[in-house]
Amino acid sequence: MSQVFKQVCFNNIKRFNSTLCNSSFVNNKNKFISDGIIYRQFSSSNNDDKVTFTFINKDGSKTKVTEEVGKNILEAAHDNDVDLEGACECSCACSTCHVYLEPKIYNILPEPTDEENDMLDLAFQLKENSRLGCQIKLTKELEGMEVTLPSASRNMTVDGYKPPKH
Ligand code: FES
Repeated sequence: MSQVFKQVCFNNIKRFNSTLCNSSFVNNKNKFISDGIIYRQFSSSNNDDKVTFTFINKDGSKTKVTEEVGKNILEAAHDNDVDLEGACECSCACSTCHVYLEPKIYNILPEPTDEENDMLDLAFQLKENSRLGCQIKLTKELEGMEVTLPSASRNMTVDGYKPPKH
């Protein structure tokens, strides 16, 4: 292995102890053995599993976030200190994660379930583009969307109570 190639490898790979690797791992592409050490090449940026979008906060300010695909809007809010409550912790049993979506985003999502619609009926300032943040899983299709927080929510727990991040 040339010195230059070695340097490139060390910049882009993680080192594995050969005793932890099985033979199929060794035979896959992007993996190789040198001096008895198994190397696996990783992409330096893995944006395929992230989505970037913006919360429009109650005061009109914006919070841009980048989150993993598969999380939901409420989890993204909590991870980034956005003031979206989520009193039932994603159980679809409250309306405190109520958000507004842009029509173009609302229209590409699956319809709300009956359970979500029942909870939305309890939401403060319900609109046609209302959804529950905890019921919207992040996908790459949602890249660049804007999620608007209502100016208030109907809190069915103790006044002022905010559940911790989960
Ligand atoms: S957190 Fe309660 S319905 Fe979303």
